[in-house]
This record gives sequence, C-alpha cells and structure tokens, in this order.
Amino acid sequence: MRRAKISVIGAGNIGGECARSIAMKELGDVVLLDIPNREKPELHMPRGKALDLACCGPVENFDARITGTFEYQDIEGSDVVVVTAGVPRKPGQSRDDLVQINAGIVKNVATNIKQYAPNAVVIVVSNPLDAMVYVMWKATGFPAHRVMGQAGALDVARYKTFLAMELGVSVEDIQGLLLGGHGDDMVPLPRRTSVNGIPITDLLPAEKIQACVDRAKVGGGEIVKLMGTSAWYAPSAGTVEMVESIVRDKKRVIASAAYCEDEYGVAPGQKGKGLFVGVPCVLGSRGVEKIISFKLDETERKFMDESISHVRDLIGVVKRMFPEMA
Ligand code: LAC
Repeated sequence: MRRAKISVIGAGNIGGECARSIAMKELGDVVLLDIPNREKPELHMPRGKALDLACCGPVENFDARITGTFEYQDIEGSDVVVVTAGVPRKPGQSRDDLVQINAGIVKNVATNIKQYAPNAVVIVVSNPLDAMVYVMWKATGFPAHRVMGQAGALDVARYKTFLAMELGVSVEDIQGLLLGGHGDDMVPLPRRTSVNGIPITDLLPAEKIQACVDRAKVGGGEIVKLMGTSAWYAPSAGTVEMVESIVRDKKRVIASAAYCEDEYGVAPGQKGKGLFVGVPCVLGSRGVEKIISFKLDETERKFMDESISHVRDLIGVVKRMFPEMA
C-alpha cells in the first residue's frame, strides 16, 4: 500500500514542527516547500530542514521520506496539503493586521495547489485564519469539504491547558470545545466543558472559569509578547491532530474552520454566501465529512454572532482586494 503524501507549504517554525510531528507519527511522507531567500540565494532552507529532520529517523525510529523543495511540481499527488505560508505576528500586532500581506501569499499558494495537487485536502494555518481559508477556497475552487482551517484544535488545547492548571488535574481528563473565529472573540463553551463528564461549572467558581476562557482567547498574543513572534509547537500539534484524523480516516471530532451556510445560522438559505468559521467537524479521508450542529443557548448565540460578524468584516477586506472572490 502506498504511504500518504503530505505537503507542508512554508518551512518556517510551524512548517518545520508539523513536518517533524507528521514523521514521528509516521502519517506519511512529507514534502516541505518554501520560496528562495532573495537576500541569500545560496541557501535552501526547506532542503536543509528536511535533511535535518530525516536524520531524526534513526533516533526516533520513524520511516518517512522527508524532502525539501522550492518547486510546486513536487507536491504532485499530495493527499493533504498544510498551508503555513505567510508572515507571523509581531508584538503589538493582531492576527487581523496580517490580512493584506497574507491574503496575497495564500492566493498564490492556492493557485499552485489547484494546479499540482487538485485532489488534496487542504488545511490552512496562515492568519488571519478564517479569512485565509476563504481565500484558499475561492482561489482553488475546491469543494468546501476539502478546504478547512486549523484553529479550534489549538484554541481548545490552550483552553484545556489553562483549566488543567487551575484544577490541578491531568489535561487528558478535560473535555471541551470552542467555536467561532480564531480571534480574541472565539466562543468558549464552559457549560459543555467537563472533567471526565463532571461539568467544570460544578468544580470552579465562575470567575476562575472566565479567567481560563480569557487566557485562551488571548493565548496566542501572550506567547507573541514573550517570544517576539507567533507560537509554533501547539499550532503544529493542532494541525497534525487534523492531518492524522484525515490520513487515518479516524473521524475525530475536531473544532475546525469549516464552510458554513445554514450551520450555526452563518448565512441561512444563502447558497454560496457562507463563510469559514470554527465549528465541530468530523474529519476523515474526504476532509470535513460532517459539521456537528447543536443548539446554542442565548449567551453562546450572542458570542457566536459577534464572532461570525467579525469574520465577515475580514472577508470584506479580502473581497475588496480580490473582487473576483466576492
Ligand atoms: C496562534 C497563532 C498561530 O494562535 O494563530 O498562536
């Protein structure tokens, strides 16, 4: 049987860590692609990283072919393409501040994916996430179920981490979910968060839960302030969780930015006018195989509507840049 082929566009911090983790889990062969460094044309970062990563194999005991390239033709036949291309945040910048520059980059990547990997499932990681997934969808013209964004897996991981720290229990025993855009207005669902089924609302006072929620919302920014650039370990872990569910057809339920119209009242009855926002998805070999919808209470509904309207504003910026995406 053929091994899965997973291409990672962008050999920066997130791209490199994704490649490492994909190889460690033996999810398939990895192609790491980036563009040449204009100031230092003698360098070949993706090939260098791929070689370094390949040499982990004998120590970590994995069999995966890892190659680095500047050429899009090398992604041909990919089952999954992970897109991390674009500039990361600097201190003081929000994810939204990156829309102008990253929309152009992601559009160019999309055109190449369409040409060289027309059957792939695409996971976008570039920010501002929900708008970049929209660009990917429009520019590839792929069916919506084969285009999705990684954000919920990371936001949920941060939320669970902070709760586990507060409760003094293992992260493994926290179940929880977040909805909405990958911004500071993501929608936590404390009523539906539990420690092995015990609602956290029975275990922590409201203000402590709120503090964990607030910290998860700005969790990315907290790290940018500390490191001077965006996080990469947890974003990569979230991405590879999605890759694994797809290549192993596991049907995991993972919060992902998926195309919604009627779902969660994003654009009810408006065919083709929906957008991508974080919702619980069943991820399998066909991509987003199902969006799981459930009824939100009044507070959750209000937060979700605010988050959707924020994503819609960002997509407005994209549509002004690229009128053909309207
Ligand atoms: C973060 C970036 C990757 O939240 O969006 O860390």
